[in-house]
Amino acid sequence: MKPNFCSFSCLLLLFFTFHAITAHNIVRETCKKCAQSDPNLSYNFCLTSLQAVQSSHCANLRELGIISMKLTRQNLTNTKSFIKELLKNKKLDPFTKGCLNDCFELYSDAIPTLKQTLKDYKSKHYEDANIGVSSVLDACTTCEDGFKEKQDAVSPLSKRNNDTFQLSAIALSIINMLNLH
Ligand SMILES: *[C@@H]1O[C@H](CO)[C@@H](O)[C@H](O)[C@H]1NC(C)=O
Ligand SMILES: *[C@@H]1O[C@H](CO)[C@@H](O)[C@H](O)[C@H]1NC(C)=O
Ligand SMILES: *[C@@H]1O[C@H](CO)[C@@H](O)[C@H](O)[C@H]1NC(C)=O
Repeated sequence: MKPNFCSFSCLLLLFFTFHAITAHNIVRETCKKCAQSDPNLSYNFCLTSLQAVQSSHCANLRELGIISMKLTRQNLTNTKSFIKELLKNKKLDPFTKGCLNDCFELYSDAIPTLKQTLKDYKSKHYEDANIGVSSVLDACTTCEDGFKEKQDAVSPLSKRNNDTFQLSAIALSIINMLNLH
């Protein structure tokens, strides 16, 4: 019995090692493909964001899609609260205040949109999921562009808009990969 047990556990060990390596490569491969399909997407951002999530280490492509959408949702929720805090400042100039109000609306709408998108995605309605994530992506761009309408206005949301843009671009890229199969 003993040799048998050993070979079984060795096999198991081999299997888990192999599985870990494969999973690791899936994140890299996926980020590589995402970055290739969208020049605005940073490979390093993709890698760092996905690898920071523990469950990405044993995820397949479909699960990586869910992870990227959940990261997007977290981002949206955090930024919405952040804008709410900024709007409490009584000394805001009217231009910035107007932009922040627009962004607050955009982010508030994007949260339920993304919730629906996750449902669409889970039931493999990739066309609908594509439309949903695209509108979240547009919300980030529209928010950021608002600040550009006035010269020397500075967006306090640049990094956040960019992060959320990138996360939803990753999700969009994954949705399109799955839709091809
Ligand atoms: C990349 O970003 C630029 C500037 O924001 C935009 O005009 C362009 O459409 C984007 N490209 C893609 C593929 O999203
Ligand atoms: C947005 O998500 C990225 C990647 O997960 C993270 O680095 C960043 O801190 C998040 N930003 C906010 C405001 O939650
Ligand atoms: C957005 O962030 C990525 C990586 O985090 C960076 O490469 C890119 O230049 C940023 N884009 C803008 C418009 O700030």
